[in-house]
Amino acid sequence: KMKAIIFDLDGVICSTDHYHYLAWKSLADDLNIPFDEKDNERLRGVSRMESLDIILEKSKENYSLKEKEQFADRKNKLYQQYLLKMSTKDLSKEVKETLEQLRKKGLKLAIGSSSKNTMLILKQLGLDTFFDAISDGNSIQYSKPHPEVFMKAADLLNIPYKECLVVEDAISGCFAAKSASMNVAALSSAYHCTFADYHLNCFKELLDIKY
Ligand code: BG6
Ligand code: MG
Repeated sequence: KMKAIIFDLDGVICSTDHYHYLAWKSLADDLNIPFDEKDNERLRGVSRMESLDIILEKSKENYSLKEKEQFADRKNKLYQQYLLKMSTKDLSKEVKETLEQLRKKGLKLAIGSSSKNTMLILKQLGLDTFFDAISDGNSIQYSKPHPEVFMKAADLLNIPYKECLVVEDAISGCFAAKSASMNVAALSSAYHCTFADYHLNCFKELLDIKY
């Protein structure tokens, strides 16, 4: 029996995954590092600094920690410019209505995201007071595939891990959920994840699951 759903944010609740790509792409171009949408797949669910390290794998330079922090900052400033243009219009009707119907079923709903911009994004979408718990990049030590962010969300809800369903678009996130003995519904980029419990063609298929 499942009593709670923990949603990843970027690429699940909203399409910020594309803004992450555009902002990293701009930095990579400035540094003359090849970077395309395929490389971007490896950044899903991974923290900001770890994402930068993945991008820098293809660089010939050896940057200092200080330089790397400046790069991450530059990327985040650009990324936030996209976020600030977002509004409640960027919350799709499908996601909004599905969330409301899941709540009507009596399920607890939480966010489990590696992003330090989680609160800003939820505010832009008008979802900042909607969820029963929010666990994000500011409260964790290890990002996905480590299960910490999902365990924190379940602990805040006071629901056993086995009774949680995690919704993910990243393989790293599916892995994180499984490491915490949670159920996983994989969609979009993670659709083909072999060890997911559910494979969703679209968000509203969450309503077809037996909880
Ligand atoms: C995750 C994204 O949700 O958040 C990653 O999938 C991103 O791509 C990570 O790197 C950290 O985001 P932020 O907003 O803290 O830079
Ligand atoms: Mg994601």
